[in-house]
Amino acid sequence: MTEKAQIGVTGLAVMGRNLARNFARHGHTVAVHNRSYNRTKELVEEFGHEGTFLPAETAEEFVASLERPRRVLIMVKAGAPTDAVIEEFAPLLEEGDMLIDAGNAHFLDTRRREAALRERGLHFVGTGVSGGEEGALHGPSIMPGGSVESYQALGPLLEDIAAKADDGETCCVHVGPDGAGHFVKMVHNGIEYADMQLIAEAYDLLRRVGGHSPSEIADIFRVWNEGRLGSYLIEITAEVLKQTDADTGKPLVDVIVDQAEQKGTGRWTVQSALDLGVPVSGIAESVFARALSGGADVRASAAQAGLPGPSVTAGEHGGDLQADVEQALFASKIVAYAQGFQQIQAASKEYGWDVDPGAMAKIWRAGCIIRAKFLDFIKQAYDKSPELTTLLVDQYFLDAVSGAQDAWRRVVVTAAQQGIPAPGFASALAYYDGLRAERLPAALIQGQRDFFGAHTYRRVDKDGSFHTLWGTEERNEVTA
Ligand code: 6PG
Repeated sequence: MTEKAQIGVTGLAVMGRNLARNFARHGHTVAVHNRSYNRTKELVEEFGHEGTFLPAETAEEFVASLERPRRVLIMVKAGAPTDAVIEEFAPLLEEGDMLIDAGNAHFLDTRRREAALRERGLHFVGTGVSGGEEGALHGPSIMPGGSVESYQALGPLLEDIAAKADDGETCCVHVGPDGAGHFVKMVHNGIEYADMQLIAEAYDLLRRVGGHSPSEIADIFRVWNEGRLGSYLIEITAEVLKQTDADTGKPLVDVIVDQAEQKGTGRWTVQSALDLGVPVSGIAESVFARALSGGADVRASAAQAGLPGPSVTAGEHGGDLQADVEQALFASKIVAYAQGFQQIQAASKEYGWDVDPGAMAKIWRAGCIIRAKFLDFIKQAYDKSPELTTLLVDQYFLDAVSGAQDAWRRVVVTAAQQGIPAPGFASALAYYDGLRAERLPAALIQGQRDFFGAHTYRRVDKDGSFHTLWGTEERNEVTA
């Protein structure tokens, strides 16, 4: 009997190729297919020794080589290319087979595709895969959505190839139905943006106020990586800052154009948060900071106009800058993660997904870009209180932030006084102060809205909605 594959991968660019290799290295027979057959042949020629690949030149050949229920993993660009591949394969599949989209698709596209394919008797699984090309090969964090039934047939394969945390636990779990997996991956990327922005602001302050060289700051990050800030992003930041440019002999970071790009997942996160009404200020500021950096024309006109502001006085800070920046970075990171998890909880409620936030922290402990030591504490927080409204009230994080208070505020003051943009640190502090405020100036905004729009307001001392007849002493109670 001809051998059948447990899983098939179509789309053999680096990510697809590495996922296929990962499955093969774990002893699974892998059907492989690509629009250009040459790439399929190259894969088998170069890596055939790693395991069993069944190369297919056509979609029909590829489908025929899969055991039932067929599992077709798609690894192509999000959007129209994914729709095209779905339409190429769906007609060849039978009841109970499944299509798995491992790209960074928008979760609403995944919900649409899942519903449409369910009508055709097929499973559609949108899964986040985090960890880049290295992760795809050596163990990513995997966030599959889709039906429980599809996970029964697919989950064990994904858990096999996923990264393993220090306690040996696999970094893959069924996130929830339809688009839940892609949603969580999207928020993962949003948190990634916030994390990267905060690290960049810490670097900027240590460079410009601390007067440290990139190499010295790399050494500081290496020390921080051994402590509570330990994470993949801190680790690679030290490597980036250590790198010397071969052409000029300068620190590489000084010859890179200071305009950050973005493929879009961070932007999607903020758009979704706006719809959900969740203030992900840290993620939003990181997306806008990238946009500001990329606004070459506006920045050029600002430079030409010579926008006035203080010049930086190195060494001027009201405390131990390095220690204060570490505190500010940790506190602001906690705020960003708290906001991201709040968004996941809000979406889970909105879409009826029943996502377990503790399980998300658990599968982010290894393999993914935001893997970090403190995810263990996030997992513990949600294990203790699954309905936690914000991580900031969990004792560990509450203690960490209260301990960081003074340093955090000193850093924001220094950035403001020295004219150094620190939207991540400053917005995180503003969010924190907003949460802790007994009364917010939103009361005045309600008065303004009622004045010009008769939008009514509620009172602290009685139920109901009210509208003031502005300019008189009268007010009438508007029935709710
Ligand atoms: C991951 C990364 C990855 C991300 C790219 C592009 O989890 O492996 O988040 O999915 O999409 O690195 O990132 P940008 O949005 O910054 O371009």
